[in-house]
Amino acid sequence: MKILVIHGPNLNLLGRREPGVYGLQTLPQINEKLQELAKSMDVELKIAQYNSEGDIVSFIGDNADWADGIVINPGAYTHTSVAIRDAISAVELPAVEVHLSNVFAREEFRHFSYISPVAVGVVCGFGAGSYILALEGIVRTINLLKRD
Ligand code: DQA
Repeated sequence: MKILVIHGPNLNLLGRREPGVYGLQTLPQINEKLQELAKSMDVELKIAQYNSEGDIVSFIGDNADWADGIVINPGAYTHTSVAIRDAISAVELPAVEVHLSNVFAREEFRHFSYISPVAVGVVCGFGAGSYILALEGIVRTINLLKRD
């Protein structure tokens, strides 16, 4: 099984970015944990971080034939990007939306997501643990889809 893990804008700054909101773990540390979990489940990951919306759109499209599913933290683009939503719809791959913070306990503009309606599920509020739960969730979803 092959999964794309996509980190959106400013997530390269994890560790120093508002640690009270996003925690102290850096992106390389989170990616290492994901790789460990993936290995234990015999899953291959392709992990990328982009600050630009177009790069995220291209990465999704370019990997449409490689991947079986997507784990994505679209960052602030969650609340603004029709283009990322359309990319997910276009490739017809199951996607899980991830947020470190509980976006619903924060400012109102973070309560709306363009991505959630095209995601199979959303995980938010568990810090770096949200990614772990999301990876487990997408693997479970793909296994169930295969069975049907
Ligand atoms: C975030 C939540 C978004 O509202 C914010 O813009 C981010 C990070 C999260 O992981 O909690 O960049 O996606």
